[in-house]
Amino acid sequence: MATVTIKNVSKAFGDNVVLKEFNETFQEGEFVTLLGPSGCGKTTMLRIIAGFEKPTSGELYIDDQLVSGGKTFVPPEKRSIGMVFQSYAVWPHMNVFDNVAYPLTIQRVPKAKIKEQVEKVLEIVHLSQYAQRLPNQLSGGQQQRVALARALVAAPKLLLLDEPLSNLDAKLRESMRFEIKDIQKKLGITVVYVTHDQTEAMAMSDRIFLINRGVVQQCGTPEQIYNEPANQFVADFLGKVDFFKGEAANGRIVFPGMNGQSIAYDGPRTGKVEVAIRPENIYFAPDGALEGVLESQYYLGDVDDCRVRVGETLVRVIANGYEYKDLKDGQKVRMNVRSFMVFEDNGLLEQMLKIQT
Ligand SMILES: Nc1ncnc2c1ncn2[C@@H]1O[C@H](COP(=O)(O)OP(=O)(O)O)[C@@H](O)[C@H]1O
Ligand SMILES: [Mg+2]
Repeated sequence: MATVTIKNVSKAFGDNVVLKEFNETFQEGEFVTLLGPSGCGKTTMLRIIAGFEKPTSGELYIDDQLVSGGKTFVPPEKRSIGMVFQSYAVWPHMNVFDNVAYPLTIQRVPKAKIKEQVEKVLEIVHLSQYAQRLPNQLSGGQQQRVALARALVAAPKLLLLDEPLSNLDAKLRESMRFEIKDIQKKLGITVVYVTHDQTEAMAMSDRIFLINRGVVQQCGTPEQIYNEPANQFVADFLGKVDFFKGEAANGRIVFPGMNGQSIAYDGPRTGKVEVAIRPENIYFAPDGALEGVLESQYYLGDVDDCRVRVGETLVRVIANGYEYKDLKDGQKVRMNVRSFMVFEDNGLLEQMLKIQT
């Protein structure tokens, strides 16, 4: 187990500043995810931690040891780190055992010790019975578990995972999430995980760092980031959200784009506001505050994804199926808002209100 301390780390490639003043400590045994859109700097941060890149400025510590910064640079092989990338990168000509044994073989670890370590780690990733197979005799998920086993075999203090599940199909991706999480718990290892997939990040992480254009927008538990997004980018990136322009006055927010219909608001703000509503927080109710015409419904099994026209605005409702069973397209409907967020003009969250109509 290890802590990682990142102090004022910035990274530029030429003029292109890809990370700006990253400051954070990842705790021992913590599962931390760097989340953000493609190109935001996630892989670069991971490579700096691994020692494949040097920061342009700032310092990086693993436990109390300075590993990058000033004149100090500890090379990757001396950092006691295991790493898995998006592509499986297992050697096709080596069987599973030899693939997993490789990091120990090049360290000239005694054969008996190698056997013991490899067997132990193959058991952890549920591949014991496949030790003699070649990678092309394995499924994608199994190959990725080989890569994981190889990253774990030298008992690293820190495991870095860069989009390890993106090449797997949806079902496998979901079950692998739990497996990785399970392994992490079992070993108590510190994990830094990179993904652009918000559900993956939500499901696995103790803490998420949401990055946009090289800047951490917010860090927190999945619940904090989802329920109290620091700004509009965060609200938009995690889960579904729609933004509506409104005017706050006299205990209500009026939506000009919805024929002047309004919802109750007891917050401090007056004048122009940006209201963000998650579609699962709108529900059909006969006495609802907003009235519109049901335009379409998409059956998704567990929920229905509906669009309701309110004036010139299309409002999205994720309904769980109970409250509206017999609604038909073209029908007038009323809706209430369970909770919403109010953002200031600069995009920052002003406040969030629960149970409002
Ligand atoms: N070795 C490199 N040389 C120049 N630019 C790079 C290099 N590596 C990454 N970049 C640039 O840094 C930015 C962030 O890349 P990356 O960290 O790979 O993003 P992510 O993993 O979030 O998709 C991108 O604009 C990318 O083009
Ligand atoms: Mg990347």
